[in-house]
Order: sequence, then C-alpha cells, then structure tokens
Amino acid sequence: MNEDWIEIEQFARKLLFEAAGNIKTSLYDSITINTKSNENDLVTNKDEEIEKFFYKEIKSKYPNHFLLGEEGKGDELNKVNGIVWILDPIDGTMNFVHQKRNFAISLGIYENGIGKMGFIFDVIHNELYFAKKGEGAFLNDKKIEPLKEVVLEEAIIAINAIWLTKNRYLNHEKLGSLVRKIRGSRSYGSAAIEMVYVATGRIDAYITPRLSPWDFAAGKIIVEELGGLCTTLTNEELSILNKSSVLVSNSSIQKELLTNYIEFFPK
Ligand code: 2AM
Ligand code: CA
Repeated sequence: MNEDWIEIEQFARKLLFEAAGNIKTSLYDSITINTKSNENDLVTNKDEEIEKFFYKEIKSKYPNHFLLGEEGKGDELNKVNGIVWILDPIDGTMNFVHQKRNFAISLGIYENGIGKMGFIFDVIHNELYFAKKGEGAFLNDKKIEPLKEVVLEEAIIAINAIWLTKNRYLNHEKLGSLVRKIRGSRSYGSAAIEMVYVATGRIDAYITPRLSPWDFAAGKIIVEELGGLCTTLTNEELSILNKSSVLVSNSSIQKELLTNYIEFFPK
C-alpha cells in the first residue's frame, strides 16, 4: 500500500502537541503513582491516559496501523509487518514525578521493521526533535548538523552511576576507567533525552544495559540520521520487538568504547 507520509507526519505532530499540552496544563495536578517491575519503576495515570489517547486517535484515522506502547494500551505485537507506531507516552517517568522536567514523549514510526520517522518531544523545554529517514533531522524547525568526530579524552558520556558499582550487567571496573579517561559523565534519567543529546553532539555516547523498544525506537532514527550509531552493548543490531542493552554513540568513539571499556554480561 502506498502511504501518505506527509499526512502521517502532520497527524503525528498534531497528536504530539495535543498530548504535550495536556501534560503541561496538568503538571501540578495530583497524580496517581504505581510501580511496575520494581519499586523504582514508576507509572502514573498520565502515562496511561496519553497512551490511550494515541491509540484511539491512530486507530480511528489509520485502522490498519499498529501501536506498540509501554503501558500495554496498544496492540500486542510479535511481528514488525505493516506500519507500527512505537510510543513511550512519558519517557523519564521518575523525572516527571519528582522533578516535573527532563521527560519526553517518544514516538517512532516503523514500516516493516524499518524506521521511517522519529519524534522526541521534550515537553517542558518545548523542543521537538524530529527525523525522517534520508531527509535529515530537525530541532523544532531548525536543521540539526551531522555529528563531528570526537576523541575520548574530550567526550562527555551519559551513564547511570549505578553501573559504576558492582552489578550483574556490566564490568564496573572497566567503566570506572572510562569515566576517569573522558572529559565528563552525566545522567539525565530519560533514554529519549539522552539519545537526542547524542544526536545533537551535547554528549558523545550513552551506555545503558536494559531498554525496551519504546525507549529507543524514535531516538535510533534521529541518531542514525545524523551519523551516530545505535547498537546493543555487544555491537548487534537493535530489534524493535525486544528489550535490549543499548549503546548510542558518536561513530568516532564507538569501537574504542566496545573494545576497551564495555564488557556486558548477557543473562
Ligand atoms: P521510563 O521512564 O519510560 O520507564 C531511566 O534511566 C531511563 O531508562 C528511562 O528512559 C526509563 O524509561 C528507562 N527504563 C527502561 N526500563 C526501565 C526499568 N525497568 N526501570 C527504570 N527505568 C527504565
Ligand atoms: Ca515511560
């Protein structure tokens, strides 16, 4: 089927602005907070409301499209055929709850498993990052420049401090030597935001051992459009149907990170 990608883009933008408006106007309303896989894995009534909104709107306009969403309000998918909207209604829920900032709506649109458009909306800063495969990436309406080469000694890398303590996913001693070598380390608490920070060159890599497709679906399209690399921590391709470790990186330091500093222990 021949899809009208311009219309899909316009429709996605409309939904994103409506959802962002909803989040902003109700930011200081009381919210219901529940926990999911563990006591630090949070979900609120807002996450669920936004995901339901997207599902209802997408299905009524495009009945043959699918939605894969974090909160399970969309379709259950085990194949990538057709057009799949992959949504994290609020990426960085802990920041949303505790800080009221540093969270984003993340939306990737895939066709037969190939990323076509990625949107990451930093709601509080009013910054919409967007990429269309093969046609460039934009921050609001401004084109984002492709990434330039960096060296590790001048790099800033996002990593959660927990991975520098003894843990079951990563060799923390190697990561310790990495953070001593680079210029600085950061942790923002939203995978989507960390990915667009790599895409814009504000940071040079992001290392994380366990993300879901909705955390990286949009960011992958944006980062790759600017020449960055998104793989697993063992340098395999990311699958949009599976949880995965993720390395997002400026291409000039990716090999050195994988060879000398990242030792990932799959389960
Ligand atoms: P979320 O806020 O949408 O849950 C936090 O370090 C980043 O990792 C966020 O982007 C968060 O997404 C994501 N993440 C994915 N799985 C997680 C989990 N089980 N617990 C906490 N954060 C998780
Ligand atoms: Ca989320």
